[in-house]
Amino acid sequence: MMHSHRPRRLRQLPTLQGLVAEVDLTPSHLVYPVFVEEGISEKVPIPSLPGQYRLPVELLDAVAEECLRVGVGALLLFGIPASKDDEGRNAYSEESVVARGVRRLRERYPQLTIITDVCLCSYTSHGHCGILNRNHTVDNDRTNSVLARMAVTHARAGAHLVAPSAMMDHQVAVIREALDAAGFTDVGILSYSAKYRSNFYGPFREAAHSAPAYGDRSTYQMDFRNWREALREVELDVAEGADAVMVKPALAYLDVIRAVRAHFNVPVFAYNVSGEYAMVKAAAARGWLDEREVVLEILTAIRRAGATAIITYHALEVAHWLRGY
Ligand code: PBG
Repeated sequence: MMHSHRPRRLRQLPTLQGLVAEVDLTPSHLVYPVFVEEGISEKVPIPSLPGQYRLPVELLDAVAEECLRVGVGALLLFGIPASKDDEGRNAYSEESVVARGVRRLRERYPQLTIITDVCLCSYTSHGHCGILNRNHTVDNDRTNSVLARMAVTHARAGAHLVAPSAMMDHQVAVIREALDAAGFTDVGILSYSAKYRSNFYGPFREAAHSAPAYGDRSTYQMDFRNWREALREVELDVAEGADAVMVKPALAYLDVIRAVRAHFNVPVFAYNVSGEYAMVKAAAARGWLDEREVVLEILTAIRRAGATAIITYHALEVAHWLRGY
């Protein structure tokens, strides 16, 4: 055999490596998730997510300004209400903490893309993502009408994209119809299409006070043994009018991201979830990993798998690193 093939030729120096690099990671690919809480006046650190906070509406300004300054152009808002009830009624209040936050951001930072999470889990007293029947199963269709009201409230407040994450069947269709009927034809739907019943959501549930009081989410979130089912979910959501779809979590699901990217022509968002962030933070705090290098590797790998955009709690730090701050 001739020894003419030498892949190392293209690895001689960083500028040459740059010419042959197949993917890139820039702050413009990132979405920063934020928790906005009703009834607090100062930011509250989230112990399970070091460096992340629950914020009063007023403190969203500082976050928005920092995002724009470092080139992260999008926020994903999660709300934590002061009180919860069995049907999550606060979720669609015009005065919900998310509606207030969106109005404020939209008015002050017109260049920022505002995305809202549309799910009931942090608004229901039982912590499930939907409304329960008497036998404690989630009522899919009643939940959808509440999700649609919530989405319309967010649209009216000024959200550019609503992101339904409850994993109810037909949630995209019902939300699309409600948005259009209310005149919000330009508000997009970023569907959490392939959302798995994952053990990586633990730190988020502590942050959002949204752990189910009993049972789990396995009757609505996906079984992590399946990837074809993810394609089926995406197919339905695209048919129902999703503008972009999501795979969640990201790191243990790169094969799913790859498959969705290969099969569909819609943007694929990947959610680098709370447990993925917390693992890296915990190891880095012990000096076991080089945080910066590991995070850049993980996020680049998610892009390589096929993600258009990445939702990550590391967004601001990454933007700083990429800009050499
Ligand atoms: C709400 C929701 C969850 C996450 C995003 N939206 C939690 C859950 O399904 O329990 C998780 C995000 C994260 O872990 O970072 N349904």
